[in-house]
Amino acid sequence: MNEKNDKSTNIAWGGRFSEQTDAFVEAFTASVAFDRRMYRQDINGSKAHARMLQRIGVLSETDCEAILSGLDRIRDEIEAGQFEWSVSREDLHMNIEARLTELIGDAGKRLHTGRSRNDQVATDIRLYLRDEIDAIVRLIVDLQRGLLDLAEREADTILPGFTHLQVAQPVSFGHHMMAWFEMLQRDANRLRDCQQRMNVSPLGAAALAGTSYPIDREFTASELGFSAPAANSLDAVSDRDFAIEFCAASAILMSHLSRMAEEMVMWSSAQFDFIDLPDRYCTGSSIMPQKKNPDVPELVRGKTGRVTGNLLSLLMLMKSQPLAYNKDNQEDKEPLFDTIDTVIGSLRAFADMVPALVCKRDNMYRAAKQGFSTATDLADYLVRKGLPFRDAHEVVGRAVAYGLGNDKDLSEMDIAELRVFSDIIDTDVFDVLTLEGSVAARNHVGGTAPEQVRKAVVAARQLLMR
Ligand code: ARG
Repeated sequence: MNEKNDKSTNIAWGGRFSEQTDAFVEAFTASVAFDRRMYRQDINGSKAHARMLQRIGVLSETDCEAILSGLDRIRDEIEAGQFEWSVSREDLHMNIEARLTELIGDAGKRLHTGRSRNDQVATDIRLYLRDEIDAIVRLIVDLQRGLLDLAEREADTILPGFTHLQVAQPVSFGHHMMAWFEMLQRDANRLRDCQQRMNVSPLGAAALAGTSYPIDREFTASELGFSAPAANSLDAVSDRDFAIEFCAASAILMSHLSRMAEEMVMWSSAQFDFIDLPDRYCTGSSIMPQKKNPDVPELVRGKTGRVTGNLLSLLMLMKSQPLAYNKDNQEDKEPLFDTIDTVIGSLRAFADMVPALVCKRDNMYRAAKQGFSTATDLADYLVRKGLPFRDAHEVVGRAVAYGLGNDKDLSEMDIAELRVFSDIIDTDVFDVLTLEGSVAARNHVGGTAPEQVRKAVVAARQLLMR
């Protein structure tokens, strides 16, 4: 950071102080190192506030014009890397205000009329997070589109479905991708829901009680795209629910990404060998020449921990805080920003990597033939022939025990072998004992039949277009 060696006591509140702030305390209490990333939102909030002050006659037109163009200039300076951030000016807000006063003189000192940093910072974070949620949802949709392409391409690819990580029943790989799609769809909805709730304007709450000027809170709210002014000034400056909700939705999202990551790590192991991850997403080992490690999914799995940690930090931060603003609240930013950065990075990596994964279809197919994955289909077959389900379960259990003893899958037994377990079994049983037959039979809404997977892809594409 470009330091300004500013020896004077802080201009924003120095009046009642007779001693300089301790240098360590100054650094300890400063937030400019991390809150400066909200500079755009801070400037937009200030511009809306200035316009409102002018409308109600508190600011002259000349002062208002000077403020608006001064703020634009400051934004340009920041974006050009020419702005000198100063720790002695404590935070983003005072850095900008001090520079404004340097640029335009007394008019700059009038900007803070009827406002406090308390409503200012609450406004900035809401505006900032609102934009970031848009970016995050866009990335979720990118990843979802990749999943839809993959699901369509691999609708007929069969792999074992697992419960307890034991082979359960064969499923379509496309169906598996559509399960990931659904998880992400809920994440996007949760984020939108939280975005809507956070979209009220704290501006005008001032320090905590409101202000004695005849302010127009509807005006500033609508200038900034908020749906309404926040209803209670005490609540407006102290509420950080929206940050907690965002981190909670992000923690759930990351836990979904970690589950996908875990499956990709397993599937790319020599033991499963179901997929190949693109080389550009893997790294090698400095000692073992044969290694191709799935680093990106592993890292995303690991990063889930820090996002959940950030959620807990915010919950602990807000616990037992009395109304209204407390300096504690300055601690909301780092966990929040870290969550945003982590979620964006993880989604970006997945959106690019997942559609590029290569299915090793033969290996998946072979794995699905092991572990008697069509046992339920044989039981269902017997039920259709009149046997009660519990009895059918028993018959198939004995056939499986025989198969285990003789190293034979159900589909590999001939009719004579099968009829030992029940004489109602006929040659038509082979239609259901194949993996294709098993998968195709689950042909209902939400089922794994390739036909259903293709329908689900079509419906999902329509959903994303809305
Ligand atoms: N930097 C502060 C924060 O992030 C801004 C608000 C400070 N208000 C105050 N009364 N000290 O919370």
